[in-house]
Amino acid sequence: MMRCRKCGTNAVINMRHHKLSLCAEHYEEWVLAQTDRAIEKYKMFARDERVLVAVSGGKDSLSLWDVLLRLGYQADGLYIGLGINEPLPYSDVSLEKTRAFLSSVIARSEATKQSPSSDLEIASQKTLVMTHAPLLHVVDIPQTYGKTIPEIARAKMRGQGKPCAACGLTKRYVMNRLALEKGYTVLATGHNLDDEIAVLFQNTLRWQTGYLARQAPVLPASREGLVKKVKPFCRFYERETATYALVRGIEYIYEECPHATGNLTNFYKTLLNQLETESPGAKLSFYLEFLRARGEGAFEQFNKVEELHACELCDQPTTAPGRCAFCRMWDIIALVQP
Ligand code: AMP
Ligand code: FES
Ligand code: ZN
Ligand code: ZN
Repeated sequence: MMRCRKCGTNAVINMRHHKLSLCAEHYEEWVLAQTDRAIEKYKMFARDERVLVAVSGGKDSLSLWDVLLRLGYQADGLYIGLGINEPLPYSDVSLEKTRAFLSSVIARSEATKQSPSSDLEIASQKTLVMTHAPLLHVVDIPQTYGKTIPEIARAKMRGQGKPCAACGLTKRYVMNRLALEKGYTVLATGHNLDDEIAVLFQNTLRWQTGYLARQAPVLPASREGLVKKVKPFCRFYERETATYALVRGIEYIYEECPHATGNLTNFYKTLLNQLETESPGAKLSFYLEFLRARGEGAFEQFNKVEELHACELCDQPTTAPGRCAFCRMWDIIALVQP
């Protein structure tokens, strides 16, 4: 039986890489403190900054939103409806989970306001006397741009390949544009350590030095028209964010996108998990030692500053002269407001 290092009661998680077992209450406390420390260490954002959290309805991004609110940050959500509802209602269910999460947060903060010494407040230890009433922005892609992601991918790729490239381009575009238009200075995503090292491994196998130079917990708003991007959960193992969601009772969508099954990223995640089993802590040190080398300038010379122009239609920054990749992919000829 594992015991909590802090209080000796039953532990809910044993983190071999930290040689640390914790009970539910002390685990929550640990996650909050670790996240706050990462935000400070990597200079992600300040207390008074408005943060936009990209929420997919999954465990990582909903937990991230929860943690930021409990830490007292002014965090709002952005959900992008991709119209992926076959063979399973993936997008519809993700939006339901996101909405349900927001309602429960609001209900809880109302309850705390009404009876300030309730169990809820004690259980949450720290804040949850939210100074900020969170908002959820929803951008529905088929409603706004006329096609679902699988439809635009089919139209553009003549049935070849997966819709993931079209999806990635669309999400990045909508996240940046909405953040800027609504006046957020920073965009936070729920990427965890397993996500980060799968990409890192892929880029290392091919020595993609340009990508390596730009992979970091913080991508600064290098120029006008680009919002700062941060990943406050980049040092948490996937198992850790899942455990946080579980102990907090956050209901999230378990399924991943139907188009992601069998992709290369998942293959690398499996490989890296085998490594971790043999050598606990290998995943975390792969990432942290990469950040150290990068911080020492190992990839600096590859960090090319690309020439950016404003898209002639939507004004978003792009390397292409004329229309940006998003406007070209979606055949946009007049400005559409998301
Ligand atoms: P993924 O690429 O699906 O692993 O997602 C990585 C991160 O992107 C998530 O943790 C979210 O922060 C964000 N994200 C993914 N899908 C969406 C979506 N449909 N709407 C808003 N944010 C999303
Ligand atoms: Fe975009 Fe699967 S989430 S294609
Ligand atoms: Zn404890
Ligand atoms: Zn454009």
